Amino acid sequence: MQKHRIAVIAGDGIGPEVIAEGVKVLKRVAELDGGFEFEFDEFPWGCEYYLKTGRMMPENGIDILKDYDAIFLGAVGYPGVPDHISLWDLLLTIRKSFDQYVNLRPVKLLKGAPCPLAGIKREDIDMTFVRENSEGEYAGSGAWLYKNSPNEVVIQNGVFSRHGCERIIRYAYELARKEGKTLTSISKGNALNYSMVFWDQIFKEIGEEYPDVSTYSYLVDAASMFMVKDPARFEIVVTSNLFGDILTDLGAAISGGMGLAAGANLNPERKYPSMFEPIHGSAPDIAGQGKANPLATVWSASQMLDFFGHKEWADKLIDIIEELMVEAKVLTPDMGGAATTSEVGDAVVFKLG
Ligand code: NAD
Ligand code: IPM
Ligand code: MN
Repeated sequence: MQKHRIAVIAGDGIGPEVIAEGVKVLKRVAELDGGFEFEFDEFPWGCEYYLKTGRMMPENGIDILKDYDAIFLGAVGYPGVPDHISLWDLLLTIRKSFDQYVNLRPVKLLKGAPCPLAGIKREDIDMTFVRENSEGEYAGSGAWLYKNSPNEVVIQNGVFSRHGCERIIRYAYELARKEGKTLTSISKGNALNYSMVFWDQIFKEIGEEYPDVSTYSYLVDAASMFMVKDPARFEIVVTSNLFGDILTDLGAAISGGMGLAAGANLNPERKYPSMFEPIHGSAPDIAGQGKANPLATVWSASQMLDFFGHKEWADKLIDIIEELMVEAKVLTPDMGGAATTSEVGDAVVFKLG
């Protein structure tokens, strides 16, 4: 029997609440299929672990994770530990160490999902964001000079390598070609006169290899306006690390909310494990109350199944999410329901059969 070994990092706040439902759903899928199984190993890393040990994960954490087939992550970060420590020492370290340079984030208005935009047809919101996930504004390059003195200076560098830009842009072109969709690049070459001019140049260069793919190029400020006013313009979208972070929260807002937005951090070469996670954070404002929506996590479980080649199950989970939202009987408060996190997870399991 095919076995998928999964490292589970539930993390902080609502992370453990939503991940419990994701694991429940994946276990049931494997049981029903009968041809594959999951082995889940849970790691209690995160902010509580930090407060006890002074580290977000053990020193050999990356070494421990490297032989897993995938990582299933809830959320990281909690008041009491500075965010730049909790995120850099766990989530961002994993993305970088395992060269998960593709962050694939669907922004699709599923049937039944709430949408705050007026006059928009459901099928108008159907995008896939290909976010650069290894460098750019998140390279972690900079300095803090003359700290705590009146001459204090901070420098945060954006790092855009040819290798890094080419591979993410090529991935996006391949996806657009495979799916027969248009490709939009989002950048900011008018103000960021080195990094984004370079990005735009590489977008054009690689495009010469893909004459069959229609392309658009927008500045990020205009793109954010069009995502709200005319989202149908966007199909496959490729953008930098920071722009992709911001625009996918905007994407979440127009396609059902943070409780429904999923993401996959992929190492396409499969040399290292890929990581699947909802894109939301630890939501301290609702943590521990059973209010967290686990559907984003279920969607990221669907992305994991797809990545492992179980496409029918991946699609089945999306169908079930849609059914739950259309029926609107078992939903969490963010979607106007009164169900708890685990009731929604149970409803998904029930619908699986
Ligand atoms: P957040 O995504 O945690 O919360 C933003 C808002 O969305 C909150 O009102 C929250 O209640 C709501 N929300 C989020 N997920 C929800 C869900 N599943 N169901 C219902 N409502 C949901 O963002 P934030 O408040 O800016 O960040 C909180 C912490 O999480 C910070 O420490 C931040 O650094 C961290 N963070 C972690 C990740 C991650 O681990 N991938 C992502 C984003 C933020
Ligand atoms: C996300 C998160 C992370 C990011 C943070 C927590 C470092 O916001 O996954 O969208 O910016 O990538
Ligand atoms: Mn984000």
